[in-house]
Amino acid sequence: MILVVGATGSLGGRIVRGLLEQGQDVRVFVRHNSPSEQMAQQGLAHTVQSLIDAGAQPAWGDLKDKASIEAAVAGVDTVISTANAVKRGGEDTLATVDRQGTLNLIDAAKRAGVKRFLYASVQGASPEHPVPLFQHKAACEGALMDSGLTYTIVQPSIFMEIWIGLMVGIPLMMQQTITLIGQGDHAHNFMSEQDVADYFIAMIDNPAAFNQTVMLGGPASHTWTEIVEHVGGRMGVELPLQYAPPGSTIAYLPEEANSMATMMEMYEDHLDIAEASATYGVRPTTLDEYIDRTFVQR
Ligand SMILES: NC(=O)c1ccc[n+]([C@@H]2O[C@H](COP(=O)([O-])OP(=O)(O)OC[C@H]3O[C@@H](n4cnc5c(N)ncnc54)[C@H](OP(=O)(O)O)[C@@H]3O)[C@@H](O)[C@H]2O)c1
Repeated sequence: MILVVGATGSLGGRIVRGLLEQGQDVRVFVRHNSPSEQMAQQGLAHTVQSLIDAGAQPAWGDLKDKASIEAAVAGVDTVISTANAVKRGGEDTLATVDRQGTLNLIDAAKRAGVKRFLYASVQGASPEHPVPLFQHKAACEGALMDSGLTYTIVQPSIFMEIWIGLMVGIPLMMQQTITLIGQGDHAHNFMSEQDVADYFIAMIDNPAAFNQTVMLGGPASHTWTEIVEHVGGRMGVELPLQYAPPGSTIAYLPEEANSMATMMEMYEDHLDIAEASATYGVRPTTLDEYIDRTFVQR
């Protein structure tokens, strides 16, 4: 039995569906009155009912409720956690969910005799990182490594579906000028969220992933300016584009996304993913493949 925590989320739902397609027994840790019910209408989440209809078994609970976590991990071989509070709010915070909730999950999994634990972290997770999310991820990575569980810490680069959707898809939909921060000239290694899901699934039984921290990325790095040019080029139009100074607030972006947009113009990332791609059999989606399926082939 595989338990997916974060199953209604964008990445978690893809993992659940992939596992079910393989015929695996999947339990999903889900909440009543989940924000995913609303978010699913914009394609940003998966409803609990859609996961149940696909064959998943619900374990109702909340990462802020220890007893419900303990019930959910009972009889489970593998835990996959992609849960986080970045797109939630209210009592769901980085401290209560990303940190304490995940620490409680690791602890409960250990006590329940879970064999495998796969955790979605971020590249650059560190206790010294200026961004709190990266500090919480580092704390959970440390707890998982110390837990004695056979772990895999997955550190993916930036997801195309989420970030290109936010920075380019939203203004396009709203017929507004696309705004980039700085000169939009720092290159990042964007990867497809579907590829991340495929890696998670491939890693469960692959000993190469046991007790490893694995950095994942896409086939190439691109700047935001290049991305806008690629989208326009594939669509056959010139997209209206303007630049704003670092630290600016872009009105159509959520708050968390604004600080990340400025942060992305402060560093670059370039990754060689040939080894990971070969080891886990995941062919990396290119930027143009993503653009064509999202912005062109409707
Ligand atoms: N986006 C990127 O570019 C990027 C890059 C690297 C790594 N990552 C990591 O990838 C992971 C996947 O993110 P995602 O986009 O799939 O996240 P998401 O769509 O925001 O989903 C969040 C999930 O966490 C669950 N959750 C939140 N609070 C909870 C609580 N109190 N109890 C139980 N479940 C709770 C949500 O359930 P409800 O629906 O019930 O709220 C939902 O299933 C994250 O860990 C993220 O840090 C993302």
